[in-house]
Amino acid sequence: TERTLVLIKPDGVRRQLSGAILARIEAKGYVLAELKKLSAGRELLEQHYAEHEGKPFYEPLLEFMQSGPVVAAIFEGERVIEGFRSLAGVTDPTTAAPGTIRGDFGRDWGLAVQQNLVHGSDSVESAEREIAIWF
Ligand code: GTP
Ligand code: MG
Repeated sequence: TERTLVLIKPDGVRRQLSGAILARIEAKGYVLAELKKLSAGRELLEQHYAEHEGKPFYEPLLEFMQSGPVVAAIFEGERVIEGFRSLAGVTDPTTAAPGTIRGDFGRDWGLAVQQNLVHGSDSVESAEREIAIWF
C-alpha cells in the first residue's frame, strides 16, 4: 500500500492546528503509520527541499521551516499521495479551495514565504526519498 510524508509546518504547530489537521487526514480514511514532533535543522531541510535550491523563495523557506518545531507523519492508503494533496489544497492558501486544509486554515500573512501549514509528497519517488530523510 502507498505511503506519503506529511509535514505540519511551523505555522500549523504554532497555531495549535496539529490535532485538527491530523484528524482530517484520518477522517478521510488514511492510516497514521508514524508520527513525531521535531525541530528540523538546516541540513535536513536542504535535503528535503533540494529541488528548490536557487529559487527566490528557497532561503526564506528554509528560515521559516526552522522557525519552530514541525510534526512529521507517514500516512498510508491507496492513492494517499494524490489524496492528501487534494485534501491539502493548492500551494497558495489564499486561493486554496474552502474545504481543504490550506483553504480553511490558511491565508496570506504578507510575509516573505508562503506559510501554508502542510507539506505532502508529490510522487511515489519523492515519498520514498522524503520518508528516508525524516524517518
Ligand atoms: P509542499 O507540499 O510544501 O511541497 O508544497 P507544494 O508542493 O504545494 O509547493 P512546492 O513544492 O512547489 O514548494 C514548496 C514550498 O515552498 C511551498 O509549500 C511554499 O511554502 C513555498 N513556495 C513555493 N512556491 C512559492 C512561491 O512562488 N513563492 C513563495 N513565497 N513561496 C513559495
Ligand atoms: Mg512540493
